[in-house]
Amino acid sequence: MKPKLIAPSLLAADFANLQRDIEMVNTSEADWFHIDIMDGVFVPNISYGMPVLEAITKHTKKTVDVHLMIVDPDRYISTFKKLGADNLTVHFEACTHLHRTLQAIKAEGMKAGVALNPHTNINLLEDIINDIDIVLIMSVNPGFGGQSFIENTYNKIKQLKELITRKEASTLIEIDGGVSTANAKALVDAGADILIAGSFVFKSSAPLNTIKELKTIANS
Ligand code: DX5
Ligand code: ZN
Repeated sequence: MKPKLIAPSLLAADFANLQRDIEMVNTSEADWFHIDIMDGVFVPNISYGMPVLEAITKHTKKTVDVHLMIVDPDRYISTFKKLGADNLTVHFEACTHLHRTLQAIKAEGMKAGVALNPHTNINLLEDIINDIDIVLIMSVNPGFGGQSFIENTYNKIKQLKELITRKEASTLIEIDGGVSTANAKALVDAGADILIAGSFVFKSSAPLNTIKELKTIANS
């Protein structure tokens, strides 16, 4: 079986010690850096933008997984490529012409991801799943770290897995929000490929060990 991946979310890092926290992830067993871009319009919060991402990607030595929680993401696809994104995920709810957006992301040489809010039904991906490299299932409402996990996520993962299998797609399933060692195994058993963890990693007293634990549990 393909190894399950761990993606620490820098939203929960210490922004005054960002380079230190990035180096910690570089030396850890984590696979990807997860980077949340919020515009205060699509979600009720503003995180960080282009200059900060540029500073971050000067130090990252692993895949840079950018999660755009912004309206009209088409405006910035080539910008995010230039800033060092390897994967670019847009929200289903923010894209009127999702197929076109995904083609534009791939044309820039990035993996194309689609994020679904907790209320967005998996069936809506029926006609687009074969064009998506990564589906990010929000297991909290987007906008903030440190929220509690929504249990209905397990049903959504199973439905998505069924859709991917039925359509013979190679799409990966990524879970974002409230992930910890308490639910990592159940998420992987339901069909998750990538687990994002923000506060559980960065607020722990030993983040390197916490990442190692998540990685071990996800691959057990
Ligand atoms: C929330 C973000 C998440 C967030 C997860 O809108 O998309 O990536 O950082 O944080 P935790 O793991 O603390 O729920
Ligand atoms: Zn995210």
